[in-house]
Amino acid sequence: MGSTGYRLQVLDITALPQLLELDRRCYGGHWGEQGYRAELERPTSTVIGAVVEPGDRGEKTSPTPTLVGFGILWRIEEEAHIISLAVDPDHRRRGLGRRILEELLTQARAAGCCWATLEVRASNHAAIRLYESAGFQLLGRRKGYYNNGEDGLVYWKKPI
Ligand SMILES: CC(C)(COP(=O)(O)OP(=O)(O)OC[C@H]1O[C@@H](n2cnc3c(N)ncnc32)[C@H](O)[C@@H]1OP(=O)(O)O)[C@@H](O)C(=O)NCCC(=O)NCCS
Repeated sequence: MGSTGYRLQVLDITALPQLLELDRRCYGGHWGEQGYRAELERPTSTVIGAVVEPGDRGEKTSPTPTLVGFGILWRIEEEAHIISLAVDPDHRRRGLGRRILEELLTQARAAGCCWATLEVRASNHAAIRLYESAGFQLLGRRKGYYNNGEDGLVYWKKPI
């Protein structure tokens, strides 16, 4: 199955409860309410969501569109920082992560950004394959960057 049937949209504060639930499903509770609220309200952040409409893709029980993926972008002058990208486990490998990433880059370009950067755990092979296939290049490694001592890989893409 491809990623048709999903709609991408810029999220606003009304998406906060669904974002928290999706964070829990994707990251096991990475950020709390304050963190996502800040991203949804900060003028230099963009939060893109992927939703599935009621009745599509088996989501027949929900009366409202269901959030199944999201990505967050920070714009710092000419730099675009991709700071989060996640897709619900039940909706992975359908091209949705790639679509959200492309939309974040489109939004960054439209806002005048020239290049993009992100950081990923060295063990996150799925995300690394996605980023490399989208043209991101390895810039460097931050030794023991994460809480569990894991290295962080820094990627960048220029132009975007
Ligand atoms: C990384 C993530 C966002 C990918 O989402 P997705 O919707 O499944 O990705 P896509 O279907 O668009 O896949 C795009 C490409 O990524 C790579 N990829 C995705 N999942 C993969 C997996 N499990 N194993 C290997 N490669 C994978 C493939 O190259 C894939 O292209 P292909 O399907 O043509 O082979 C998703 O796995 C996720 O939410 N992971 C948990 C959160 C996370 O780690 N986010 C990244 C933080 S930096």
